[in-house]
Amino acid sequence: MDKPALLEMRGICKEFPGVKALDNVDLTVRPGTVHALMGENGAGKSTLMKCLFGIYHRDAGTIKLDGKEVDFKSSKDALENGVAMVHQELNQALTRSVQDNLWLGRYPKVGGIMVSESIMARETKKIFDTLEVTVNPKAIMSTLPVSQRQMVEIAKAVSYNSKIIVFDEPTSSLTETEVEHLFRIINMLRDKGCGIIYISHKMEEILRISDDVTIMRDGQWVATRPAKELTMDEIIRLMVGRELTNRFPEKTNKPGDVILDVQHIAGKYTRLKDATFQLRKGEILGIAGLDGSGRTEVLENLFGAMTREGGTITLHGKPIRNRTPKEAIKNGFALLTEERRATGIFGIRDIKENTVISSLKDYLMGGFYLNDKKMKDNTDWAIQAMHIKTPGQHTQIRSLSGGNQQKVILGRWLLTKPEILLLDEPTRGIDVGAKYEIYQLIIDLANEGKGVIMVSSEMPELLGVCDRILVMSGGQVAGEVDARNTTQEEILTLAAKYV
Ligand SMILES: Nc1ncnc2c1ncn2[C@@H]1O[C@H](COP(=O)(O)OP(=O)(O)OP(=O)(O)O)[C@@H](O)[C@H]1O
Ligand SMILES: [Mg+2]
Repeated sequence: MDKPALLEMRGICKEFPGVKALDNVDLTVRPGTVHALMGENGAGKSTLMKCLFGIYHRDAGTIKLDGKEVDFKSSKDALENGVAMVHQELNQALTRSVQDNLWLGRYPKVGGIMVSESIMARETKKIFDTLEVTVNPKAIMSTLPVSQRQMVEIAKAVSYNSKIIVFDEPTSSLTETEVEHLFRIINMLRDKGCGIIYISHKMEEILRISDDVTIMRDGQWVATRPAKELTMDEIIRLMVGRELTNRFPEKTNKPGDVILDVQHIAGKYTRLKDATFQLRKGEILGIAGLDGSGRTEVLENLFGAMTREGGTITLHGKPIRNRTPKEAIKNGFALLTEERRATGIFGIRDIKENTVISSLKDYLMGGFYLNDKKMKDNTDWAIQAMHIKTPGQHTQIRSLSGGNQQKVILGRWLLTKPEILLLDEPTRGIDVGAKYEIYQLIIDLANEGKGVIMVSSEMPELLGVCDRILVMSGGQVAGEVDARNTTQEEILTLAAKYV
């Protein structure tokens, strides 16, 4: 660690009611480097960054920027003094334009008067051009896919010309091409001498992009090492505090008879052109493919979340239609969407309410009363089964860490006891230890005779958990492989078939 520090955080402490979120944490970031911050869900990564950024006020500790002690009172204060942050939870004005979002809170002024839309558009274009972002500045935010909204957020943070830029799980909703784009931006910032703090649960990304790695556990600093001295196993050991010998549980489920037969479904106005496949009782079917190959659309189509064009669906030998999600739920389907954080969370409601909301009819007594004990028991089950880190079930969901919020939503769908469970990127944003628990839950469901279809962009996860893998390419099924008898190469070759 040769160069003097750009950012120095020392002895940072922060307590919330019932939780010591940060306990004497240190972090030193050198100029011109990417510093990864790692740790399990709820370890305190986002809280540490929010203390830096003036969103939370620390209880103790000092922060030095360029050798000078600083104490930001608000995020505005931080931004004006050289610290920018891309948040884990997007918080954008969806009914406003892209450029409004970019300039919100700092509209460019000339002589005290706000500049015209056209000057704003020109300034926006300048920023987008340097970063090679191709989003239309005049587009209304809500019309953009989440990945493009995320790129706008990234461009915004970078446009402040800050010395320190924090990326809190920036890639969780980016496509693979956009991840590469982000990495080019990060490398550019590094070359300019910025200090970049990078938070992610994707181990491969960390080892690729970072210079230094700091690992936290239960609100405490555990280690800081140069990335090139670390291996994936070593990081996992430091994060979870024990050896994690297997990343996947034993596969005990046995696929039985075919329960679901899908013939030639296609989607109107979408990328899905033709999908035919079957699902067996107790089977876990994976769906692989590149971004835009129609993976997610297969699930949405089955669930009635998009207009279907042609094709048939047969469940237990009987034709079904699933024209709407409501109809699909009645037929025993459940869908865990890819964008659960944006669509599935009732922020000020507590964990219990968020858990039972989709299975309320199971708690009805005499048609009028809800069985509170059963709701509590089921919520306790979810908290234990997935190790949700919380002081109790009456905690508001928005005060949980990002990954723990995801677990609550997964629990919600598991409790609807679906016969066919559709999972889109079930472990996105979830730490390695908790991933194992979630794989175990999926296998348990299959053991109970449910059929599971899961889309994932993580190949090892598909190979480790599924029985069969359907590979999508250009909106069609390019092939089907036995998960125990295939390789990543074979899947990638199929994925490129119709590109
Ligand atoms: N506003 C808040 N009120 C109460 N508790 C909070 C609040 N913000 C965070 N916490 C708690 O502080 C702890 C650390 O949370 P934090 O969000 O920093 O975790 P994280 O490391 O970012 O996890 P993840 O990987 O899931 O995003 C958690 O136990 C969380 O529930
Ligand atoms: Mg976080």
